[in-house]
Order: sequence, then C-alpha cells, then structure tokens
Amino acid sequence: MAILEIKNVTKQFGGNLVVDNISIDIKKGEFFTLLGPSGCGKTTLLRMIAGLVSPDSGQILLDGVDITNLPPEKRPLHTIFQSYALFPHMTVADNIAFPLKMAKWDKSRIDAQVNELLEDVQLSQFKDRYPHEISGGQKQRVAIARSLVDRPKLLLLDEPLSALDARLREHMHMELVKLQEETGVTFVYVTHDQHEALALSSRIAVLNHGTIEQLDKPDIIYSKPKTHFVADFLGKCNLLKAEVLATTTDTVTLRVASGIEFSIKDPASSSYQIGQIGWYSLRPEKLKLSAENTFDATNLSVIKSKVNGYYYYGNDTLYELDLGNNTKLQVMAPNHTSDGVKFFVDNSEIYVAFDPEAGNFLDTSSC
Ligand SMILES: Nc1ncnc2c1ncn2[C@@H]1O[C@H](COP(=O)(O)OP(=O)(O)OP(=O)(O)O)[C@@H](O)[C@H]1O
Ligand SMILES: [Mg+2]
Repeated sequence: MAILEIKNVTKQFGGNLVVDNISIDIKKGEFFTLLGPSGCGKTTLLRMIAGLVSPDSGQILLDGVDITNLPPEKRPLHTIFQSYALFPHMTVADNIAFPLKMAKWDKSRIDAQVNELLEDVQLSQFKDRYPHEISGGQKQRVAIARSLVDRPKLLLLDEPLSALDARLREHMHMELVKLQEETGVTFVYVTHDQHEALALSSRIAVLNHGTIEQLDKPDIIYSKPKTHFVADFLGKCNLLKAEVLATTTDTVTLRVASGIEFSIKDPASSSYQIGQIGWYSLRPEKLKLSAENTFDATNLSVIKSKVNGYYYYGNDTLYELDLGNNTKLQVMAPNHTSDGVKFFVDNSEIYVAFDPEAGNFLDTSSC
C-alpha cells in the first residue's frame, strides 16, 4: 500500500511551471529518490510534501489522510537539508532527544530511545559533546538520528550529504541504507547525483523540467532507460541516431551513421514504423573489442571501426571509436588481464561487437 500519494501536483513560480502535474505513489518502507539536474523541481516537490510550499493544484495524502492543507508542524514527518541545523547549545544526546521531549515522553523512555539511536549512528562516545566539537559527517549523523528518534511516517532528505567529502559520503551511504532498513521509516531522498541515487534507492523518479521522465528500480533505470534524457543523465551512454529499416514481432533492424545496419531484440518492435527515426542507446561497457574479427557473428552484431583515442582509468580504459559520418562510439574495456594492459592504439582498425539485447531503441516521441 502507498504511504505517500502525490496526485497531479503542480506548482508555478512567477509564471514558470516548476512542478508539472506530478503523480507518484510511494510505498511504506521504501527508499525513494527524486533524481534530476539542478532546477528541475526536486526541492520544490519535497517542500510541498513537507508543507513548506503549497501546491497550486493537486493533492498529497499521507497514510490515506489528505495533508495538502495541513501546516508543516502537524505533519508526521521530518525534513533534513544540506545544512545540519542542530541546536548549538545542546549536546549531541539532547539534540537527538529534543523531538521526544517536545512529545512529552518519560525521561526513562527518552534515554532508552536516544541511546539506541546513538548506537545506530555510532556516536555513543560523542553523546556529551556539543555540535561545534564534532565533524561535519558526525553532525549530519546527529541530524539523521534526531529525525528518526520519534519514528516519523516519512523522512524527507534534501541532498543531505552534499557538504561531505567523497569518502565520507560513500560511508554515509551505507549507514543510511542500514538505518532505513533498521527503522523501517519511509525515506524520500533528493539528489542530483546519479551514483548516489543508484546506490541507495529502492526506486528512482528521474525528473526533468518538472515532469517525471522515468520511474523505476535503479537497475531498470540504468539498463533500460526510456528516454534520451534518462540515458544521457545516468552514466555514460552512446546515443546513436537510428532509422528503423525492418521489424519482426520481437526484433528491429536499425541503420546508424548512414551505413551501419544491425538487428536488436525489442518487445515493442511491432509499434515502430519503417523509416521512423529514433535513438539507439548503448552503454559503453556492453561492447567488446578485438583487433581481429574473432566474434561469433550469428549471435552478435559486429562492426568494423577505427580507434580515435582512449582514456586510461586504471581498472578500465575508455576507447572512442569512429563509425564514420561524424558518429563516435565509446567502449569501456576492463583491464583485469593478468599479463598487464594492452592498448588499442589510435587509428588502428578494430572490431566492436555487441549483443542484440545490449541496448535499447528509443523512439523520438520520447526524446
Ligand atoms: N520560492 C521561489 N520563488 C521563485 N522561484 C523559485 C522558488 N523556489 C524555487 N524556484 C525556482 O524553481 C525552479 C526549481 O527549483 P528547485 O529548488 O525545486 O530545484 P532543484 O531541482 O531542487 O535544484 P537543485 O538541484 O539546484 O537544488 C528553479 O528554477 C528555481 O529558481
Ligand atoms: Mg534542490
């Protein structure tokens, strides 16, 4: 059952449509992420859930109750922003205890609950320190503990880790997932960081210009992007302009770069028109390279190409191939061979192969 129902919610600021008729059902216990570029409306949507901004139209229901017009303090949820917003004159333990004191819990119950949370966020030994005596990462852990201590129905998090360095952020990712699982509190998390979204979420809504481009599980968002925007926004992706040459019930023959033809598997193939133009999206790590044409052409599409350049990343090397007609193809090749790395040098001829299910045809109506 959905704990949070966002129904046809719209918001304009000064004539700009910032959130455009968005509907989302979020399930109880989910780690749900709103992902999108700067200015796409993530924070505005989150602030409407929190009650800090009123929608122009639409409805928001929490646990079946219409909260659209409920003031923020009456909503059984908490919000964490990038800044820590701890009470500077209170110790770590008192900061965490604050919501329970406000709710008039008994002192013994408060102590037990606070100690449990302190253990969960690994801050027991810092309980008597003040916020200025702990690090940024520790402050954010206190803020998270304080937001979970009274077990809200919902925790809203707006880029809560963006002030932390990359290493600490990764550590906090694992802690957040653990805390979310342990407490069972439903999280709605906002980020513009695709890696963060993929690593943390049960489901992701990818937002662009105030609308949802795709809502799916992380692995589907990554491997089966539905639009040009989603394919491009998440990770590296080749997007080749492609023409439909022929279709069968489950395959499409495409032509890219004016001359290269291949067939792919696609359950939606019967809905395409011959001559239709779209995009073929193909992740660089789905391609295989070889100096000789040793690939099994009955099962793979094989293209003869030329190396345009490469970038060594340590564990992988990213090659750029030239398909002609101003079309480039990126290939990520792993470097885990025991006999060291052998590079394909610039201008050498090369064969590149991929599986009929490796990529996706995106029809232009979705681009
Ligand atoms: N109170 C406001 N008054 C006017 N315009 C606003 C207001 N709040 C947000 N906006 C505008 O609405 C758009 C969406 O803003 P929002 O803060 O929701 O984006 P975001 O997706 O959270 O971006 P970021 O990743 O940069 O935080 C932006 O163009 C922003 O300038
Ligand atoms: Mg924002």
